[in-house]
Order: sequence, then C-alpha cells, then structure tokens
Amino acid sequence: MENLETILQQALQEFSGISHAAELEHAKARFLGKGGLITELLKSLGKLPPEQRPAAGNRINEVKQAVEDALIARRAALRAREMDDELQQEALDVTLPGRGMQQGGLHPVSLTLQRVENLFRTIGFTTATGPEIETEFFNFTALNIPENHPARAMHDTFYVDDTHILRTHTSPVQIHHMLKNAPPLRIIAPGRVYRCDFDVTHTPMFHQVEGLWVDRNVNFAALKDVLATFMQLFFERDDLAFRFRPSFFPFTEPSAEMDIACFNCAGSGCRVCGNSGWLEVLGCGMVHPNVLMHVQIDPEEFLGFAFGLGVERLAMLRYGVPDLRLFFENDMRFLKQFN
Ligand code: FA5
Ligand code: MG
Repeated sequence: MENLETILQQALQEFSGISHAAELEHAKARFLGKGGLITELLKSLGKLPPEQRPAAGNRINEVKQAVEDALIARRAALRAREMDDELQQEALDVTLPGRGMQQGGLHPVSLTLQRVENLFRTIGFTTATGPEIETEFFNFTALNIPENHPARAMHDTFYVDDTHILRTHTSPVQIHHMLKNAPPLRIIAPGRVYRCDFDVTHTPMFHQVEGLWVDRNVNFAALKDVLATFMQLFFERDDLAFRFRPSFFPFTEPSAEMDIACFNCAGSGCRVCGNSGWLEVLGCGMVHPNVLMHVQIDPEEFLGFAFGLGVERLAMLRYGVPDLRLFFENDMRFLKQFN
C-alpha cells in the first residue's frame, strides 16, 4: 500500500512521456493488465486484516480510476496528434495550377459543322434533325427509290434488322420535316450518316448537311446561287474554282453534283482527287414531284430545291487534309493542329 502513490505518479509520468499508441498500450498492460502493478495490489487485498480491507480497496480503486483516466486522455491526445500529422502530410494546395495542363479544342469536323450551320443561319435556314436509325421507307421509298431500284445498291447500306437501316444520307430528314410542316420551308439538317465505304475520300461514318428550300418561286438558278455563295463564304475566296456537274438522284430532277478544285494538286490530278483535279462536295437538285406528292405538297403550287453536302470533304479542302480517314483516327498530333 505504501507503493500506491508512487505507482500513480509513475503511471502519469510514463504516459505523458509516450508518443506512440503501441507503446501506450504496453504501458497500460504494466499497470492495469493481468499481472499489472495495480491488478497485483487488488489481488493482495486478501492478505490485509479484514478491517483495513475496505479503505485499502477504495484507495486502490481510486488510483486505478485515475490511471485509466490518464490513459484515455493520453490516447485521445496521441490520436489527435496523429491526425494532425496526417493532415499536414496530405495537405494539398488546391489553388496551385495543375501540371501539364493543356488547352482542349473542338474536332475539325465539329468546327466545320459549326461553320456550315452559322453561314446557313445567316441566310435564314433553321436546323432540323432526324433519327440515325431509319426505316427503308424514309431512307429510300419516300425519296422515290422504290424497292429493287438500282439506286438502293449505290448506297452500300448497313442493315440493323429486316426493316431498319443506318441512314445512308440526311435526305430522309426532308421527308420527316415536310410531313410535319407546311411550306414555305427553309431548313438544313446536319448529322451522321453511314455507308460501307473506306478509302482516301470515304469513311463508313461521315457527316452530311442536308438543305431544303420549298417555296412558290424557287428554281435551279436560286439553288446554284445559294450554293456558290455559300462555298465562297465558307472558303473565304471570291475566286474559288468550282463546277456543277450533271448527275442523277431519284429524288431530284434535274440533279447535279458540285465539285471544288483539288487543294492538293490545284487541278492537275493526284491521289486525293483520283486524278480528276476535282473533289465532289455535294449532290443537289430540284425536289422531284413524286417526293412532294408523297408528303402531300402540291407540286403544281410549290417547287423545292435540295442539297446534301459532305462535311468531311469540306474540312479536307479547307484544312488541306490529304486523307479523309485522318479525321477519325484520333491521333493527338493531328487533332492538336486545330486547337
Ligand atoms: C447523297 O447522299 C444525296 N442524298 C445528296 C442529295 C441531297 C442530292 C439532296 C440531291 C438532293 P451522295 O451520295 O453523292 O449524295 O453524297 C453526298 C456527299 O456526301 C458527297 O458529295 C460527298 O461529299 C459525301 N460523301 C459521300 N460518301 C462519303 C463517304 N463515304 N465518306 C465521306 N463523305 C462522303
Ligand atoms: Mg455523289
């Protein structure tokens, strides 16, 4: 019992000198554990004369309580310090600029699409959209391409199931729009289209912008004028070399395709233009009366012109890209040049 005060002092002193949690638990065992100093004292109570036992027992329990309190307090202090250390170590300054930050940019095809849309918006065209998974009816039949018509083979079509296909052009949007709206109409319809094609100027997925103008007095001269003006604005060149070449589409009559002089060889012929000196950028024509009748527009009252331009072809010409497939390889060295 004479040791009791010494034991208490010893415990308090020892605890306060400890700076690691594990060490603290060792020290605890020495005082409060099975063979600990205080536990031993409690066990030896029985050796005291009975009258001394209650007082001695009380005093031992008081000391035991004090040691436990000191232990708990020290534990909390150590944990708090550990937490502080951890926070210090893991601290990060969120206001510092990131390492190797790079400026992103829009994809050249997106830039081109935006440019096309902006230019047409300035001359009064609004934007319409349609689904990329189409029925054969909208992609072909309604466009005056009946079943078994050889023009269906011209578009190497991806089939989704027996009746659905990935649209091969944006022209079905003409039909959707004319079914829902009465003329006069003036829209463009940008979007993705799909064909089983792959070479220097063809990819299986590409973008078209459809154009449609239906009114009482539109004509082929207006079509030529809109497209020529658009191209001059798009390429920022008054002396742009282009040509309209007679062509055939079942949904327009007469039909034409527009070519721009090859940027790569300036018209002398190379691999990019298939030695023709020209790059085809769009198909166009006066909307066929059968198409207007399909959507309950009277071809005696209204005329329309339509065009479908290849967005990647315009991007090739504008940026001087010699292979259309480069747009879809996602090579950062290529894409970075458009930031
Ligand atoms: C059409 O798709 C017609 N729907 C265009 C049209 C619309 C005519 C309205 C009349 C009235 P064509 O198959 O020629 O036509 O394609 C149009 C343009 O898309 C081409 O001039 C070319 O610029 C581009 N193009 C065609 N196939 C590919 C391809 N695989 N990859 C990239 N661009 C392509
Ligand atoms: Mg064509």
